[in-house]
Amino acid sequence: MTEYSKGLEGVIANESALSNVEGKDGRLSYLGYHIDDLVENCCYEEIIYLLHNGKLPTQNELVEFERKIREDRTLPQGVVDFLKAAPKDANPMDVLRTAVSMLGLYDPRVAIGDPDLVKDEDIGLSIVAKTPIIVASYHRFRQGLELPEIREDLNEAAHFLYLMNGGEMPTDRAIRTLDVALTLHADHGMNASTFSARVTIATLSDMYSAVTSAIGTLKGPLHGGANEGVIHMLQEIGELDKVDEYLEGKIARKEKIMGLGHRVYKVLDPRAPHLRKFAVQLTEELGETKWIKMSERIAEVMRERKGLNANVDFYSATVYYSLGIPTDLFTPIFAIARTSGWTAQILEQLRDSRLYRPMTLYTGPTELMPVPPIDKR
Ligand code: COA
Repeated sequence: MTEYSKGLEGVIANESALSNVEGKDGRLSYLGYHIDDLVENCCYEEIIYLLHNGKLPTQNELVEFERKIREDRTLPQGVVDFLKAAPKDANPMDVLRTAVSMLGLYDPRVAIGDPDLVKDEDIGLSIVAKTPIIVASYHRFRQGLELPEIREDLNEAAHFLYLMNGGEMPTDRAIRTLDVALTLHADHGMNASTFSARVTIATLSDMYSAVTSAIGTLKGPLHGGANEGVIHMLQEIGELDKVDEYLEGKIARKEKIMGLGHRVYKVLDPRAPHLRKFAVQLTEELGETKWIKMSERIAEVMRERKGLNANVDFYSATVYYSLGIPTDLFTPIFAIARTSGWTAQILEQLRDSRLYRPMTLYTGPTELMPVPPIDKR
């Protein structure tokens, strides 16, 4: 018998060489490269390559890799039709989950069974390429607008913002900010959505099913949905001088504050300072420093009162808000970034897989009872 660990806390269920989350030291690395170093020296496409190939690309490899992803941006017409027909007030995470699932219907390569996983690697990159197009398309269509022409000369961050802005080119600052946000969200150990993806693929289901599971898991407010919760909270508080009173009420009622705390990091989440820097710059540029000042005060009070630190979602919310991205697309952007990690983890699982099958600590009756006839219950 093994020990019971609620929420599998502390349980090691598989091996992975992809990302190392060192909770005690507040350190995150991908394949042995510190996240600070990667943010400083690499673009998001290099991160996708790193996660999928286990090494950083040379210049030529990067060019070839970018070409491959950019050529795969077009959605099947059936998915486009769905995105046009989907309810205009749907949760974009539900739309994304459904659309990624639909992609599998149009891909003849879908069944697992290629021992070298070449096909699955291609499907993984195809999902990475198409996810931003799905999110931007739905956002345009729900406003009754067309999607601008898909281009192959823009990187992931620039192309997504270009589509969202109706064909207008984003500023270099906006592109760089989103590129860093994508890099920081790409992979993160055995988080809940990655675990879902690995559980699904370990049954030898298929790549689309596994990513669909992951999107459904990311949606929740305790995981990817927290970034939307942060903006709702800032809007609810409204002014800097209301922060303390608001937090006291929340603490007294034992309610969670979105964007704070972490299952693994018990010190500062190493992704947070990068996003904080961009949040400060962008809000200053916009002349809307109120949001960042309120955020700083929330982080300060929660550190002092509860010993809790800001996590990745805390500042990403202000960053996306400052980029003019609607709140309900914050979590889909997290999903866009995490597709690189999910698909790399799915491939890693397939290379050395064992079905996940934990046990339950049964708490029901142990004495067996006869089933009474329905009119006697
Ligand atoms: N606001 C207020 N209190 C919090 C808190 C938060 N965001 N996060 C944790 N706590 C409190 C818990 O209530 C608990 O208090 P208690 O000991 O008095 O019961 C204590 O801190 C320990 O937290 P716990 O719930 O055991 O942490 P966890 O590892 O299970 O949960 C999270 C981790 C991420 C689910 C949790 O911190 C949370 O819900 N955060 C808000 C959502 C969020 O930002 N998610 C994104 C994560 S990247």
